[in-house]
Amino acid sequence: MRILSLIDDLTATDRLAAEHGSAIYIEYGGKKILFDTGASDKVIVNAERMLLDLGKLDAVVISHNHTGHIGGLAHLLAKFPSLTIYAKRAAANDFYKGAAFFRFRMSESAAFFKRYADNFVLFENFQEIFPGLYLMTDESADGSHRPDNRRFFEKESGKFKRDEFKHEVFMLLMRTQDEKDGCVVISPCSHLGVPECLETARLNFPHSPIRGTVAGFRLSVGGKKLTVKRDFLESNARRVADLTNYTVYACHSAGKLGYEALKPMMGDQLQYLRAGEEIIF
Ligand SMILES: [Fe+2]
Repeated sequence: MRILSLIDDLTATDRLAAEHGSAIYIEYGGKKILFDTGASDKVIVNAERMLLDLGKLDAVVISHNHTGHIGGLAHLLAKFPSLTIYAKRAAANDFYKGAAFFRFRMSESAAFFKRYADNFVLFENFQEIFPGLYLMTDESADGSHRPDNRRFFEKESGKFKRDEFKHEVFMLLMRTQDEKDGCVVISPCSHLGVPECLETARLNFPHSPIRGTVAGFRLSVGGKKLTVKRDFLESNARRVADLTNYTVYACHSAGKLGYEALKPMMGDQLQYLRAGEEIIF
């Protein structure tokens, strides 16, 4: 399988556009999949510069309904109107960020999902979209274990309620038909936590070692300061190391600052996957 970062907060070269968001191009079992679409039309710009034909995509998967992940979708649909898009059913709603007196929408609207209803495959939970490629999440989690999630809201019947991130999903790809050969986990943003994703992968596939992880850790959004405390970072590093011995590629919401803070705790196990870089498993 080939995993190529198309959009990230960091790029490997200044010939590619960077933005706060994520889009990962995946070739797997003869299929071409785009996991998230970045925040804007930059996903199309970067794909053209990398000579990737997004018109040949078999599927788009949306990790959650936040602009950095779904913002490029309208641009993609304008160019490729017959795309098939997978997302959690809970994503088809309005999501906000902010404090008590100032909240701004940071998602596509429920109306957007209605307009493109023919393109969307909305699912409740665990989903195998191609043989060996799974979408899943920790259905018992509500995001309350991460203090930084308190700034996020969902609007339901005109009222704000805390976002429980029921709209978030991560991807698991089996390396071969034999689960014992291991799997790769991709979770571009991880509002529900990276160790939590790996634990869910382990629960669903207990005999499949996690041979690679690509994950946003949500550590330094905005890039100016860390959004979590040091003991939280240390426990994340420890829990991840307990769940996988293989390389973990930070991306997007980890940020440069978060990556640099985690690096001394995880050593060589931690790398960063910038836009323009690819991993072959
Ligand atoms: Fe994000």
